[in-house]
Amino acid sequence: MPISPGAGPVPGVLADSHGRRFPYLRLSLTEACNYRCSYCLPDGYRATGGAGFLSLEEIVRLVRAFAALGMTKVRLTGGEPSLRKDLVPIIAAISAVPGIARIALTTNGCLLPARVRGWRDAGLTALNVSLDSLDGTRFHAITGHDRHAEVAEGVDLALSLGFEAVKINTVLLRGLNDDELPAWVDYLRDRRTAVRFIELMRTGDNREYFLRHHLRAETLEQALIEQGWQLRPRPADGGPAREYGRPGHAGRIGIIAPYSRDFCAGCNRLRVTARGDLRLCLFGEWGIPLRPLLQADRDHDALVARIAGQLGAKADGHRLHQQQTGLLSHMAAVGG
Ligand code: 5AD
Ligand code: SF4
Repeated sequence: MPISPGAGPVPGVLADSHGRRFPYLRLSLTEACNYRCSYCLPDGYRATGGAGFLSLEEIVRLVRAFAALGMTKVRLTGGEPSLRKDLVPIIAAISAVPGIARIALTTNGCLLPARVRGWRDAGLTALNVSLDSLDGTRFHAITGHDRHAEVAEGVDLALSLGFEAVKINTVLLRGLNDDELPAWVDYLRDRRTAVRFIELMRTGDNREYFLRHHLRAETLEQALIEQGWQLRPRPADGGPAREYGRPGHAGRIGIIAPYSRDFCAGCNRLRVTARGDLRLCLFGEWGIPLRPLLQADRDHDALVARIAGQLGAKADGHRLHQQQTGLLSHMAAVGG
């Protein structure tokens, strides 16, 4: 479909040459993080690069352009997005952009008890919280922070605030948290949340760690099926997770298996880095700089055209199976 800049929303235009649609933008607000997750930033975050992260004004221009192309949902990621001092104004400004119906945030959760009400009031509609273990000592060992209690309390608070969805991300780690399925099953009995087990992904920085701790999710998935969990139909814009439910359980269990064969076919993600580069694949070899077109409202049409023009270039799948991690040194750089 030809793009007509300035002609207003053109629903469905955000599709690539492989027939995938992208109703959903993942926008990183910062590369900084206060955790030291052993698989991501084991030595903590160190500032690099010249220009700072996108400002509130740049973010609003960016989201307006994606909304003009039919994008309805934005996910805010990092690094740790809650480290942005202006997170509440950012959420409020994005929710005021016509066409944006859903705003989600991916967070490590340590600020939830203090901040989540404010985010909800500003217009946040969904939350993903990282929680790599239900055990405080293990959580500390994996993330470098003794904050398990705050995160767990924060999830329960969030569950009481009427979000459309509150989900938990757990990276599956051999020898560190791979025996916790029974604890999660208990946890999910009365909580309306989904825990999603994510297979550890190899990045430029974590090669040795990956070899030690990577674990395929197949065994876990098999155990789920044996215990009566049933695969749920995948919603149209559901992304790459396979989700299971079980009668008598309020919660669900999801599997995100980037190394499984069809993972990329279900990909509905487009990413923009905290410095304004469009990334068509997490493991792609290049970024398309959008920042030069985020400096003035008058560049709106050119920005829309640049984004639309790049989608045809989204490759049909990553090359992780060939050990190629592309530009990605660690997830904090692009927000996972
Ligand atoms: N492999 C899998 N998941 C990762 N995350 C960060 N780095 C990796 C990796 N190498 C997860 C975080 C968080 C989500 C945004 O991505 O734990 O839950
Ligand atoms: Fe921070 Fe997320 Fe990386 Fe952990 S995985 S260090 S919380 S950016």
